[in-house]
Amino acid sequence: MTQPPLTTPFRIGDVEVANRVLLAPLAGIGNWFVRLQARRHGAGLAVSEMVSSFGLHHRNERTIRELLRIHPAEHPVSIQLFGHDPGVMRSAAAVAANAGADLIDINMGCPVRKVRAAGAGAALLQRPELALRLARAAGQGSGRPVTVKLRSGLVPGDRSGFDLAVRLVEEAGAAGIAMHPRSAALQHKGRPDYALVRELVGRLAEASVPVIVSGGLDTAEAARRAYQESGAEAVMIARGALGNPWIFEQLTGRRTGPKAGRPTRAEVVDELLWTMARAEEHLGPRRAARYARKFYPWYLERLGIRGRDAAAFQRTESLDEARELLASFGKPLAIAA
Ligand SMILES: Cc1cc2nc3c(=O)[nH]c(=O)nc-3n(C[C@H](O)[C@H](O)[C@H](O)COP(=O)(O)O)c2cc1C
Repeated sequence: MTQPPLTTPFRIGDVEVANRVLLAPLAGIGNWFVRLQARRHGAGLAVSEMVSSFGLHHRNERTIRELLRIHPAEHPVSIQLFGHDPGVMRSAAAVAANAGADLIDINMGCPVRKVRAAGAGAALLQRPELALRLARAAGQGSGRPVTVKLRSGLVPGDRSGFDLAVRLVEEAGAAGIAMHPRSAALQHKGRPDYALVRELVGRLAEASVPVIVSGGLDTAEAARRAYQESGAEAVMIARGALGNPWIFEQLTGRRTGPKAGRPTRAEVVDELLWTMARAEEHLGPRRAARYARKFYPWYLERLGIRGRDAAAFQRTESLDEARELLASFGKPLAIAA
């Protein structure tokens, strides 16, 4: 069967997504402005960084203010929750929906020890009954379509993620599955098993629930290849989008003509300055100065600023200091609104 182009809209439950290129959930990174940036550059949907269901359930003020902040221009937006208690998941999903989430995603793939030790993330692959209850609870609490992002299994060769994905759709009404076909033990290394995603697509064809492929999509070419190899409904860009929102333009055909290649130096600088300005808006100048350090290397690398020069940005104490440093590396410097 021929696949539609990546620019073709598709649906997740009752939510229409404008194209098949999505921003993956990225812990500590995927806040409102990173998602907005992806959407500005053409992503059809962006998923939030994972948010603690317990934090929302207990109405943790900072969790709600910072992690549930949604920009009006982001919709549709998916908020990813993690947790292991269905009652808590139900109330957390309600809080997320009230904050404006169009979709709720549940994290059943995180391999980080702390998350798994609490019984969340990839640990749920071993507790399928609980995983099903969590998905149902999220749907009941939010009234929104629920998707689940998971791994293929816990160790190479284990297919517990595949089996759980099928059950989530057939028994818990999941409206979409994002599959990262590397086992949790591999963390983020190794070649993803796109053939397994293809098998899942076939298995879920009758349910007409979209399967989204994640993993190894570092470049536009890699994403196109994975889309074809997996037969998935959509691709989800993760590390390939760090400091590289242009990947969404490349994949949605918005970056054509003379701009088709790499972004210009001015574009990269502009994007970095925009990110810094949004960080300031989000966290205030002091916290933003520290937070922005995470973003510098991705953009500086593209500008050819490396080694000792790049390290100097990690020592900046204010955004203005970083802006001055950036300016010292030469023109052209555009002003970010
Ligand atoms: C820094 C970082 C943070 C991540 N945070 C999350 C997360 O919060 N939730 C989640 O489901 N996956 C998370 N992931 C996994 C990604 O969404 C994605 O599935 C994975 O990186 C594979 O895609 P890639 O090889 O194209 O990077 C994270 C990955 C990275 C590198």
